[in-house]
Amino acid sequence: MAAESEKIIYSRTNTRQDDDHASVRNLPSVVQSYPQGLSPTDPCSYSRPDECVVTQIDLDLDVDFKTSTLKGQVHLTLKKKKEGIDHVLLDTREVTVKKVTDQANGQELSFTLGEHDSNFGSKLDVRLPSTAERSCVVSVEYETSPQCSALQWLRKEQTAGKRQPYLFSQCQAIHCRSMIPCQDTPAVKCAYSAKISAPREVTVLMSALRLGSDPHPTDSSKLIHKFEQKVPIASYLIAIVSGDIESRDIGPRSKVWSEKEMVDMAAFEFEETEHMLISAEALMGPYVWGQYDLLVLPPSFPYGGMENPCLTFVTPTLLAGDKSLANVVAHEIAHSWTGNLVTNSNFEHFWLNEGHTVFVERKIAGRLHGGEPMRHFTGIGGWKSLQYGVVDVLKNGPYTKLIPDLCGVDPDDAFSVVPYEKGFALLMYLEKLVGGPEVFEPFLRAYIERFQGDSIVTDQWKEFLFSYFKDKVDSGVFDEVEWDKWFFGQGMPPVKPDYDNSLAVPCADLCQRWVKATEDDYSLFKAEDMTALSTAQKREFLSLLLLEEPFSAEKIQAMESVYNLNAVKNSEIRFSWLRMCIRAQCEDCIPRALEFVTEQGRMKFVRPIYRDLYNWEKSRQRAIDNLQANREQMHNTTAKLVATKDLHLKN
Ligand code: BES
Ligand code: ZN
Repeated sequence: MAAESEKIIYSRTNTRQDDDHASVRNLPSVVQSYPQGLSPTDPCSYSRPDECVVTQIDLDLDVDFKTSTLKGQVHLTLKKKKEGIDHVLLDTREVTVKKVTDQANGQELSFTLGEHDSNFGSKLDVRLPSTAERSCVVSVEYETSPQCSALQWLRKEQTAGKRQPYLFSQCQAIHCRSMIPCQDTPAVKCAYSAKISAPREVTVLMSALRLGSDPHPTDSSKLIHKFEQKVPIASYLIAIVSGDIESRDIGPRSKVWSEKEMVDMAAFEFEETEHMLISAEALMGPYVWGQYDLLVLPPSFPYGGMENPCLTFVTPTLLAGDKSLANVVAHEIAHSWTGNLVTNSNFEHFWLNEGHTVFVERKIAGRLHGGEPMRHFTGIGGWKSLQYGVVDVLKNGPYTKLIPDLCGVDPDDAFSVVPYEKGFALLMYLEKLVGGPEVFEPFLRAYIERFQGDSIVTDQWKEFLFSYFKDKVDSGVFDEVEWDKWFFGQGMPPVKPDYDNSLAVPCADLCQRWVKATEDDYSLFKAEDMTALSTAQKREFLSLLLLEEPFSAEKIQAMESVYNLNAVKNSEIRFSWLRMCIRAQCEDCIPRALEFVTEQGRMKFVRPIYRDLYNWEKSRQRAIDNLQANREQMHNTTAKLVATKDLHLKN
């Protein structure tokens, strides 16, 4: 990592964004805007795609469940971007590099592996063949570490069926480097292919099209699975899973995959997938990835969903039994355009991925169920969660900027609701300003058309917005927009968009009745208060309660007796209700809360509950003990973030 002094010298002011930024396409004009020693376009990568860029990745790996490692080779096709370039810089993290060769003649190439940085791993510096012209193929023979941050290895006892071990990856934001030595920056996109050998008993899938499998030439206990992703993608979208999984067809281009214990339930839960795809295509243009499959992971999967191309990964906590959490699928589908086709050039501009995706997700939700009132209702929920995240969690600090400064920062540490909901609010506000959905939707489509295949920064988005709406710029429509406050201001956005609150009113009313209720009023509440609400409204009601001062344990008891909330299985409702109970210091909820954070590992649920348990003296030590007792079973990233950020342990 750059030394502190360098950081100061190179520290950027907000006006940096007014500089003429260039995408990788126009790399020669890129200015050095990040500390020296780092990529000029990405503060989280050692690579220098302005000097030499990877244009194709071919993997040849073996899945070794005995040692919990991937081993084999990555073949990187490189293209020099400047004269006189004699080396390439790659990102790695805790990988053992055995040998680097020039694929053209098998000759060894010298390399040095830099010092380990806890945020960014180590730089791999490879000397290029002196004979190489503009292009060459470099083969890196390597092995991952059992602690690889991108991979989770589960023993068969840790799976639902307990028949076979299981492996899955999560590369976003910067974990690909722990799985593959590469230019681990979303500024670089390339196609990839893979040959993966694995025991016959397990299936292997990747974020690519499946090309079938061959017998292993020397080991009859194994098969070699072949994959191809022809659309150029950022490294964080490379994904792999291997385990005892099967599939069901859920649409003409979609299967759902999971352990057989859950596959029928999953097929039901995600039945609307094709409708969502059709609706997304109507908004954004053709779906270019061919297949759209879903994979339901084991419970330790740390996110709700991950938009791996051709194969979205989702948490089993979406299996509510009533499709009420399928908006996560709409979200991941939307990433097929916003994120996977038009990509943030580095994770400071993550809002371009997530803000647009939430915006499209809610368009899809509106089109499929409930129209504009529904879209606005989800927007109101988003604004509330933004308020909570900005004020209560982030204390109006630097990560509340829509475009944060990530110099020296692991994007996992800066992750929050801000890029999602501040980004969404900005788009919602602009949509109204330019004249509504009929005017703004064609802009979105044009934005995809213009930038698909590229990696961009916010200035390029804004420049395109201004050129698309040139007449409106000229007539002063955008004069009121406080761009600097939107992009670089800390705290809540400068304007709250207008929302139609018809669907939110019953939630707010019921919330306020409870807030104001005294003991004498408890008998006025009826089970029908809740049954009259849709699942989405119940969720909203509980989120609203969470924004209020903590209730007394007696009031919680009264709510439980009328609504029977302890019995609810829906993970979102269970989550909010448990938080209400912990904040009310209801002692009997501690074991239930510990059970919830142990049986599943979705960070959105696990981290706030651990924080709440930490904040209450009675439960603090029990939370710490629970983490220590279960740490080995947990996903690396989740365990690390809970330990260091939420429970304030040394590690
Ligand atoms: N791409 C994200 C997940 C992610 C972000 C992983 C950053 C690693 C680093 C995914 O699309 C996402 O946003 N998932 C949300 C879904 C929700 C907003 C509907 C989640 O996991 O909850
Ligand atoms: Zn997303």
